[in-house]
Amino acid sequence: MCAQVLVIAGLKGGVGRTSTAVNLAAMLALAGKKTLLVDLDPKGEATVGLGLERTTVADLQALVDPQRFLEATRPASRPEGLDVWPGGPGLEGIEGLLWARGPEGRDSVLRGALADARKRYQAIIVDGPTALGPLGRNTLAAADAILVPLSGGANIANAFLEASAAAARVRAPGTAPPLVFGIRVGLRREELLAPDPQLQDEHAQRVLEAPIAYDARVLAECRARGLPAFDHEPGSRLARSYLELTREIMERVLPAALPPPPPATDTARAAVEA
Ligand SMILES: Nc1ncnc2c1ncn2[C@@H]1O[C@H](COP(=O)(O)OP(=O)(O)OP(=O)(O)O)[C@@H](O)[C@H]1O
Ligand SMILES: [Mg+2]
Repeated sequence: MCAQVLVIAGLKGGVGRTSTAVNLAAMLALAGKKTLLVDLDPKGEATVGLGLERTTVADLQALVDPQRFLEATRPASRPEGLDVWPGGPGLEGIEGLLWARGPEGRDSVLRGALADARKRYQAIIVDGPTALGPLGRNTLAAADAILVPLSGGANIANAFLEASAAAARVRAPGTAPPLVFGIRVGLRREELLAPDPQLQDEHAQRVLEAPIAYDARVLAECRARGLPAFDHEPGSRLARSYLELTREIMERVLPAALPPPPPATDTARAAVEA
């Protein structure tokens, strides 16, 4: 097992990153993939969205140490097969502690911690804050693929360029760049592409075909109950759209987003053991 790390990102706030993270993670688990959702946002909305308590403790080792990282995960109330590394206000303290450690290795803490989690899970979804402080930088440094929700008024080229440039700034030299894909939220393809028809060739193929339906009512009810859309109202347009989106991500994104090669020591050990 070696899970791919998909980070839901975008430098604009309030565009549907957390709802995408929660529902994509839930649908992957329902599809039979053992999935981990990492909530690296001090707001902890993904954690609450899956019926769990937000973390209030600034436990840096739970982020730095791969074993402690795994011990901090909790099973989501629904669905089965989904675990959550809980976020919440405690992460503000962790952000401060990361700053205090100085720049050396500060952005690659999550990437390091996920080394063990990748072996235990089949898919890892990361939700983070909009700001590019230490936590946001860690999410981008850990990504095999970045998924950018695109809503009304989004400039696709800018959104993709910003995500790629931000990832390039925070990743260690020699690390392969992450793939970047766009996800339409409540917009038809033509509506999203209309402002700049020249995008057709350049970036349009990186916008996934399956959109997320616009449904503020079901989304609000899901949040109030701490359930993903499929567990709250499986027949809703919102739930069905997440199902289609997850299918496309399993067919198109996961096979393309290859995890990094294992460290040389692991390869050598495997060769000796073989
Ligand atoms: N599919 C949708 N249908 C209707 N409204 C939506 C949808 N997705 C997101 N929204 C609206 O956008 C708001 C923010 O959604 P969400 O918390 O998922 O975004 P975010 O990018 O994580 O925000 P933040 O920057 O606060 O972390 C929701 O409260 C809802 O009002
Ligand atoms: Mg959010």
